[in-house]
Amino acid sequence: MNILVTGGAGFIGSHTIVELLKAGHSAVCVDNLSNSSSRALSRVAELTGAEVPFYEADIRDRSALEKIFADHSIDCVIHFAGLKAVGESVVKPWEYYENNVAGTLTLVDVMRRSGCKNIIFSSSATVYGDPAVVPITEDCPRGVCTNPYGKTKSMQEDILSDLCAADKKTGDPRPWNVVLLRYFNPIGAHPSGLIGEDPSGIPNNLMPYITQVAVGKLEKLHVFGDDYDTPDGTGVRDYIHVVDLARGHVKALAAIERGCGVAVYNLGTGKGCSVLELVKAFERVNGIKIPYTIDPRRPGDVAACWSDPGKAERELGWRAELGIEDMCRDSWNWQKNNPNGYRE
Ligand code: NAD
Ligand code: WQD
Repeated sequence: MNILVTGGAGFIGSHTIVELLKAGHSAVCVDNLSNSSSRALSRVAELTGAEVPFYEADIRDRSALEKIFADHSIDCVIHFAGLKAVGESVVKPWEYYENNVAGTLTLVDVMRRSGCKNIIFSSSATVYGDPAVVPITEDCPRGVCTNPYGKTKSMQEDILSDLCAADKKTGDPRPWNVVLLRYFNPIGAHPSGLIGEDPSGIPNNLMPYITQVAVGKLEKLHVFGDDYDTPDGTGVRDYIHVVDLARGHVKALAAIERGCGVAVYNLGTGKGCSVLELVKAFERVNGIKIPYTIDPRRPGDVAACWSDPGKAERELGWRAELGIEDMCRDSWNWQKNNPNGYRE
């Protein structure tokens, strides 16, 4: 298939382009580079031996999108483009709704006018809010999102699901196919060390914070709370290797091909790992000590969140293959080879 990857220069998008090409698909990338570098795409070319057509454009720019669909015959869109920092979304809600929700509205309008009604969307475990039970299955109700970022993910899920529902109701002969992928906590990097996560400023997320302590850019890790109701008191998450996550998108194309209507899948490992377990695994695998202090809880954090990924295995034949050790090794390999990320 020929896939338009929005946000393809970003962390998950760049890894997904690599896996798409490896699986024999072709890709076109659109990204406004607001949180990424075109160097990621040069590295993708180095890794795969293939140049992916790249449009530096914003998904809210209707005419830029129309040009892409006029230039290429697109079978499916994998839609990563969006703003993703939870804390920032609380202080800049308008920017998040406008970029994520209005951007998706423009994208799907251009898609349907171009006759492409197949989309795989980057959703998030954040839509479950504070889960009543773990592991979380896809039929667990979506929870109350406490931040605008999470709300934009829920809204985008609703918009895409309603498009499918309308086609079903009217018996549209070429209906929308929508796959909503709810990611748990993506970390790791391509094992080559050529592409990885490149946050700007001080990282918000745990693994990039750890790697920046390891490389000497940050003094110590602040562990946000050790008084949760979890085995060691620190927060438990379902960390998933970004390469496994990328392969999940390739597998999700099968759902599109069989005309799935709306299909929702958790992409996680099904295993919970605490903050301190991740720190210890990183130290063990890489032989580097990570100094840390125990700090107060971070507002908005839940105690524990991990997936039941069984549906993706049953229906897509996908399961995560890589473990915490692989994630720790590859995150560090990327960071030590690229101490300044894609910046020179
Ligand atoms: P990222 O910031 O690395 O990638 C997003 C890309 O989209 C960036 O390259 C950015 O420049 C681009 N972009 C943003 N707004 C755009 C716009 N209006 N037009 C064109 N390009 C635009 O983030 P990521 O970690 O790769 O995440 C990809 C997607 O997955 C996002 O939608 C994110 O919300 C979602 N997600 C990420 C995580 C995570 O922890 N990384 C977890 C769950 C869901
Ligand atoms: C993981 C654990 C922290 C940093 C976020 C978004 C979510 C999704 C993935 C996009 C928690 C602890 C963290 C630090 C710490 N993104 N921690 N010190 O919060 O599970 O999920 O990213 O959709 O929507 O909310 O990930 O990596 O920030 O935190 O102790 O410096 O590490 O308290 O227990 P989170 P995270």
